Amino acid sequence: MNRNRLGWVLAIGAIFLLTACTGANQPPPNDAEVHPAVKEDDQGKAEDSDSAAEDSEPEPAAIDPAVIFSSNCARCHKTDRSGAKGPSLLPDRLTKEASHYAETITNGSGPMPSFGSRLSVEEINALAEWILTPVE
Ligand code: HEC
Repeated sequence: MNRNRLGWVLAIGAIFLLTACTGANQPPPNDAEVHPAVKEDDQGKAEDSDSAAEDSEPEPAAIDPAVIFSSNCARCHKTDRSGAKGPSLLPDRLTKEASHYAETITNGSGPMPSFGSRLSVEEINALAEWILTPVE
């Protein structure tokens, strides 16, 4: 039994060696067949992580009122909200509800420009809530 098996192994080995030597051009095509398959897998994984990144994009874009304020409002109300061209926007002076101030921000007031077309409703609401909280 063992002898027979050894014989088969040797025979197969010999055939393998023969085909490997005579078919010298074959290994490269075999390589080419193997590697693209590996690359496809890699691309598949890359696409997966890309789409995962796209899915999670809205979260980093979460509204940060302080950032919106510093780029839209601080030039008139000052970064610390203590007021300059516009009045101070601090909770001890703002006695009305957030919705009232959201309306002021949306439509403007006197010299203050309207932001209804520049900021989203969510951003304006976040700003209105934010100016009613103490400065950190
Ligand atoms: C061009 C200067 C200017 C900019 C920019 C500006 N404001 Fe004003 N803001 C004013 C002025 C002036 C007033 C007072 C308006 C009035 O007397 O009717 C005011 C009033 C306000 C009020 C009402 C305060 C109160 O006591 O009722 C709020 C709230 C407010 N601004 C928030 C903001 C926010 C938030 C932004 C940024 C999105 C902003 N403002 C941008 C000038 C500005």
